[in-house]
Amino acid sequence: MNNKYYIETYGCQMNVYDSELIASQLINTGYKETSDIENADIILLNTCSIREKAEETVHNRLSSLEYLKKKNPNMLIGVVGCMAQNLKNDLLESKPYVDIILGPDSYRKIPDIVKSRHTDLNHVVDTKLSKYEIYNDMLPNRKNGINAWISIMRGCDKFCTFCIVPFTRGRERSRPIESIKEEALQAVKKGFIEITLLGQNVNSYSTPDGNFSILLEELAKIKGIKRIRYTSPHPKDIDTELLNVMSKYQNICNYIHLPLQAGSDKILSRMNRTYTSDQYLTLVDEIKTILPDCSLSTDIIVGFPGESEEDFEQTLDIVKKVKFNFSYMFKYSSRPGTKASNYTDQLSEDVKQKRLEKLIDLQKKITLQNYKNYIGSIQNIIIEKKSKKSDKHWVGRTDGNVWVVIEDNGEKIKDIITTEIIDAQGVTLFGKKIDKGKLYEAA
Ligand code: SAH
Ligand code: SF4
Ligand code: F3S
Repeated sequence: MNNKYYIETYGCQMNVYDSELIASQLINTGYKETSDIENADIILLNTCSIREKAEETVHNRLSSLEYLKKKNPNMLIGVVGCMAQNLKNDLLESKPYVDIILGPDSYRKIPDIVKSRHTDLNHVVDTKLSKYEIYNDMLPNRKNGINAWISIMRGCDKFCTFCIVPFTRGRERSRPIESIKEEALQAVKKGFIEITLLGQNVNSYSTPDGNFSILLEELAKIKGIKRIRYTSPHPKDIDTELLNVMSKYQNICNYIHLPLQAGSDKILSRMNRTYTSDQYLTLVDEIKTILPDCSLSTDIIVGFPGESEEDFEQTLDIVKKVKFNFSYMFKYSSRPGTKASNYTDQLSEDVKQKRLEKLIDLQKKITLQNYKNYIGSIQNIIIEKKSKKSDKHWVGRTDGNVWVVIEDNGEKIKDIITTEIIDAQGVTLFGKKIDKGKLYEAA
């Protein structure tokens, strides 16, 4: 028997982590990974529903896989993750060759489904969301040896009016501190030097033994963790205690991804973001006071229903004021079932596209200016991989999550290099390794 699995992951890092959990279960059931989809006897697509385009991509991918099922009727094709949760039986109707549909809280079923696949050829659909499932007793099968993703909470209770996540991922629940610490220790033992804590609202983390700040502090004390990152926090749940913990520990990165979404109070309120533009700016000030030089990035949606030209200008204003290092910028995509999809003042594709281009243009200029300001500064970077453009160069990230290219002088992946930034082009910095003696002179 072949016993090979192939997983393709779409969407956010939570899905990357979940795919690692699924992989470890398949391995425990006797399967091996293959990168050759033609040779797999289980194909799983771990999917995303955040925007219409994300779903379209998976529909197209699934259509392109039908021939494999015809060639090998014993092959199992599964759709798991947010789209499975969102579309359930509709997916089976349009793609009857899909065998398995599992929502994000149903991954425990995988070993049983796989074991019984030769005796029971019925479709399996399980999209029951759970208030409790945190996969606490499972360890992921990680690949990359630098950063370990660690999911610390699941679900979202915020119900922003544009967002499908509360429907696909269900209610918020947090893993106990001890189990997260154990997983972090295991990752360090395996050679990982960076961890990134994951959650839809990572800082809404809450357990009887402590909140997000307490968890972060516990993890920062673990020897061998050189860097800790987290994503995505909700601005509403960032407090002074968290910023103080970040400032106290060197290994907690000086970087916050702080989703803004919009700059107009009218739109923020219609989005149910629960903060005003002033509150957001006050928070940015507090971050800059407690964590000087903190690198900030954000998510922004343009063309939300009812967004006037003036509302959009207010988004541009905040972007100019905060000067994010980089932004993930999206056109609003109506998600059936969400509150905003029923708003009657939807904007045309053309208006959304123009606003997106204008915003991207502005952000590009800001990124380049910010990066130019890094020239002359000293940054520690962790070497992650060879540069795509030249095998005589490495690329690594600063603690502020900015990529830097440096010459390869015989260093190794995972080395931490003290670097002087010497140039900035587009979204890349160029650095030069400096020896500690020079650093001393500079200080
Ligand atoms: N939990 C995270 C966001 C997860 S989704 C948070 O609250 O920050 C990632 C980003 O996708 C969101 O921040 C938002 O900018 C974008 N997004 C979500 N729903 C969207 C929609 N319907 N249309 C366009 N962008 C959307
Ligand atoms: Fe979606 Fe809002 Fe929850 Fe983020 S906080 S996942 S944008 S509902
Ligand atoms: Fe997409 Fe689900 Fe993540 S909708 S962004 S994969 S939580």
